[in-house]
Amino acid sequence: MAETDAQALKRAALDHLWMSSRDWSRTEEEGGPRIAVQADGIRFTDSDGKTWIDVRGGYSSVNVGYGRAEIAEAAHEQMLRLHYFPQTSVTETQVRLFRKLAEITPGNLERTWATTGGSEANETAVKIARSYHRRTGESGRYRVIGRRGSYHGATQGVMWLGGYDGLSDFYPAYPGIVHAPQPNPYRCEKGGATPSECAVRCAKAVEDLIEFHGADTVAAVIAEPVSASAGNAVPGGEYWPMLRQICDRHGVILIADEVVTGFGRTGKMFGLDHWGVVPDIMTMSKGISSSYLPIGGAIVTAEIADRFAADHDHFRQALTFGGHPVSAAAALKNIEIIESEGLVQNAAEIGAYFKDRLRELAERFRFIGDVRGIGLMLTVEFVSDRQTNERFPKSLGLGEKLTERFHREGLLLEASERMVSFYPPLCITRSEVDEIVDGVSVSLSETAAELSLR
Ligand SMILES: Cc1ncc(COP(=O)(O)O)c(C=O)c1O
Repeated sequence: MAETDAQALKRAALDHLWMSSRDWSRTEEEGGPRIAVQADGIRFTDSDGKTWIDVRGGYSSVNVGYGRAEIAEAAHEQMLRLHYFPQTSVTETQVRLFRKLAEITPGNLERTWATTGGSEANETAVKIARSYHRRTGESGRYRVIGRRGSYHGATQGVMWLGGYDGLSDFYPAYPGIVHAPQPNPYRCEKGGATPSECAVRCAKAVEDLIEFHGADTVAAVIAEPVSASAGNAVPGGEYWPMLRQICDRHGVILIADEVVTGFGRTGKMFGLDHWGVVPDIMTMSKGISSSYLPIGGAIVTAEIADRFAADHDHFRQALTFGGHPVSAAAALKNIEIIESEGLVQNAAEIGAYFKDRLRELAERFRFIGDVRGIGLMLTVEFVSDRQTNERFPKSLGLGEKLTERFHREGLLLEASERMVSFYPPLCITRSEVDEIVDGVSVSLSETAAELSLR
């Protein structure tokens, strides 16, 4: 792109664009926004001609990597043949996709209500859970149990299911939501000293909440198999099987939010496959199409779906773009690539290698308190003291300084004073991991020297 064109475009972006989680003043101070113009594999080029590694894989969503012509062709072909479905009809690609989802998801998850993204998928899951209970004669069940630190989307209802800084901007909170602890063994809210103890106590806390509020008021529990927003803490082995048993015991619907963890990210096709647990509803998006086009969905068990089969019982919701045929074509091709290129296995193997390499950094830098995660969702957590796990104050500027250095190394990676997380495309190779770890290592060394950290 010619320099003047790029500058004019940046100016126009600063004047007219409202980017996610950013303000335009800071973006301008940083010389941004960065305009990405082309990409291939794990790399992209910006309008200044600089090449970057996208260590965050879009929004932890570009699973097969950038530049896959087959996906573009599948979408193109569908667009030319039939870009949309005439009302009360479906297209062949939609049917093929939903059949495929029933095949690859665990257990008897059979029927998908399709959306355009993850927030809508979770909104849909909660609505299905509540309306399911009405159909079984338990209309008093409306509460939903989420977990502190989780993230289930940005829309009016589901944003309250988790917890993040700044939610108070949007008060009043949506009613009927209660929060359980996050099973993070590194900082267990329930004081568990081992991953196992933390898992058991945090699962038990969910049961305590159900009993406190009365099971006959609780519709669902929603949780990510591994929560990206809570820093990729992998719960101890007891957690998910216990959640399953607790929900069964109390007639509560278990919703697994696989928006990030689905489609190979954790080294299994779905996150819950690590524990052999089948939820009642699983939500998905992001990796389902590797973000080539927007699509998501909530897949439910046959038992739940059957309650909506009769005419007067149908699920009263419609989304114009939900499960769009062109997005469905892209998703279908994307899943085919994940399977045929062994990307789930690659995420497991390369993820383990990546984690080992990050652990080597933890041996060199004492301000790394924890290295954790699973598959290709990994986190390095910073602490000012390894004995107490105390965090650095934001005023130190650790996050900004590190981020600046990552960028200098050509790594698109954002650190906070607490942590930095990695979600590269699943097609990443060992030598690309080495390249990333080298850049991270240089950035940590320089920042440590500047801030006199050990
Ligand atoms: C676990 C999880 N659930 C749901 C969402 C919301 O998805 P979307 O941004 O597609 O609405 C996200 C988005 O980051 C997520 O990480």
